[in-house]
Amino acid sequence: MDFVQFSAQGNVGILTINRPAALNALNDQVIRELDAALDQIDRNVIRCVIVRGAGEKAFVAGADIGQMSTLSKQEGQAFGKLGNDVFRKLETLPIPTIAAVCGFALGGGCELAMSCDIRLASETAVFGQPEVGLGITPGFGGTQRMARLIGPGRAKELLYTARKVKAPEALAIGLVQAVYPVETLMDEAMKMAQRIAGNAPIAVRACKKAVNDGLQVDMDKAVEIEEALFGSCFETKDQRNAMTAFLEKRKADPFVNE
Ligand code: HXC
Repeated sequence: MDFVQFSAQGNVGILTINRPAALNALNDQVIRELDAALDQIDRNVIRCVIVRGAGEKAFVAGADIGQMSTLSKQEGQAFGKLGNDVFRKLETLPIPTIAAVCGFALGGGCELAMSCDIRLASETAVFGQPEVGLGITPGFGGTQRMARLIGPGRAKELLYTARKVKAPEALAIGLVQAVYPVETLMDEAMKMAQRIAGNAPIAVRACKKAVNDGLQVDMDKAVEIEEALFGSCFETKDQRNAMTAFLEKRKADPFVNE
């Protein structure tokens, strides 16, 4: 792959968008490579994935404006679908994901970060959906995920004005969960990822599915979703091991994902 790299440190995977000459902008090749990289993640080994952009200037500065500039209506819609399908694959990946956002996360970059479960930002991070200034709407799920993450009023204000949001404001409105100096962002993301990876993987994945699926339905159905996922954790080696260890007042054996 030219523009997307995947590496693993123990049980933690790191997905890097690596197209620094264009501030990691997403052309269709980058999006297709991201799709392939997601398919290749070993779900038996990797327990948390960090998504980041190469370099310190940009996480991802958006979809590739050069590539989009001459699209027809039909091609525009198809480009939106290409990104939406891949970002939805990322959002529903059974493994938890953390976006480590250093620098610009604009347009498709902000949408990529919002497709992850958790967002950690550098003090230099800048978020925004500048699309209406380019004569388009967000097209990789930004109108939908931003409204769900920070509420429709705030989302509409940011979408209509195309205003950029710096890290402290992103933290205040809940667009990101924590802000760190550039130098420590990846260490902090790795610490969080390792902590997640140290918990029972079947249970962590069930939490992800319960939150994601439950938010799409009414509360009666949502608690049923939780009940089924809760039930699915029982009889697993990890559940038996952890609860037995508690009762025997000892530390549980490492989780085995079974
Ligand atoms: C293509 C991009 C790009 C992008 C940056 N570059 N963003 N190329 N698409 N989205 C390229 C520049 O053309 C330039 O290439 C190089 O990266 C460095 O960028 P500069 O603009 O020179 O850097 P700087 O002056 O520091 O400004 C940084 C910036 C600015 C503020 C982030 O690049 C910028 O505004 N970029 C566009 C941000 C944006 O509008 N994103 C939303 C796109 S729409 P050269 O070759 O000149 O060095 C979108 C829609 C998603 O994402 C949904 C689609 C369906």
